Amino acid sequence: MKATAVAPSNIAFIKYWGNADPQRNIPSNNSISMNLSGARTRTTVAFGAAFTADSLVIDGQPATETARARASRHLDHIRGLAQTDLRARVVSESNFPMGTGIASSASAFAALSVAGTAALDIALDERAMTELARLGSGSAARSIPSGYVELEVGSSHTTAYAHTLHAPGYWDLRDIVAIVSREEKSIGSSAGHTAAETSPHFATRLSELPARLETVRRAIRGRNIEALGEAVEADAISLHAVAMTSHPPIYYWAPATLRLIHAVQAWRREGLPVYFTLDAGPNIHLICQAEDEADVLAHLADIDDVLETLVSGPAEGAQLGDKHLF
Ligand code: DP6
Repeated sequence: MKATAVAPSNIAFIKYWGNADPQRNIPSNNSISMNLSGARTRTTVAFGAAFTADSLVIDGQPATETARARASRHLDHIRGLAQTDLRARVVSESNFPMGTGIASSASAFAALSVAGTAALDIALDERAMTELARLGSGSAARSIPSGYVELEVGSSHTTAYAHTLHAPGYWDLRDIVAIVSREEKSIGSSAGHTAAETSPHFATRLSELPARLETVRRAIRGRNIEALGEAVEADAISLHAVAMTSHPPIYYWAPATLRLIHAVQAWRREGLPVYFTLDAGPNIHLICQAEDEADVLAHLADIDDVLETLVSGPAEGAQLGDKHLF
């Protein structure tokens, strides 16, 4: 009745922004990501007749009621698969700060899905596990398979699933998060997804995506950092243009975010192949090849805005573990 799972967060090269079906987190567009070796969540779940309600502890603290209720709704999906009413105790630890543009919900709901089903002895294949994880958080579906992953939107619950494009060892890329703010974001991705279609630029974004998705698939397949980087930057800016022109408008950037974008462009003019992307927050993810990691870190060390860096390579997907948290 108890199981533990470890899941990576992931960084999207083509972002998920907007839902075709908000009830079931069926996105409006396919997305492509890389699992992050340096950003993981470990979660232990136990179901028991002794528990009167679901409880959730995150990083040693009782979770907020909002977070507990969201986890509880996900546990309802898992309970539904096993046809049980048993409540659960959930304890979770991440090795990276929450709410800073690193998708903690991706690793959290991936780990909760794998640990929760194992605790109830429910056997799901990888595809079905990605569909379950997606119900908790759309991006969590991409943290189940290994390496470079695409989330297909399909048209229904069982066609909106994620799968590996390439194993982690296929291309040794780096994602270096430059943390410029540790504040919780004030507007979460969920509100952003809802607002997306109020932007006049949302339809343009969607119309550009089939070609950009193909560029990214081809760039990963051909290990072409320039082609990947250009498409990744264009996609991030397109998402933020939609967010900034939504009703109400959402500005995720801090002044330091733009200073870093300018810095990355300058480094590239000097010959360093490094590109940026941004999720729903002010922190910048720098994408480069492993051979340029030291150079990128040396450049970042000169920038006062950068409070901390977090380096990841491509990682395996979610896995069961035996180091329980209780
Ligand atoms: C900008 O709905 O997966 O990171 O609200 O944290 O569950 P949560 O996020 P989710 O949206 C992710 C939005 C994104 C882009 C992406 O990862 O594809």
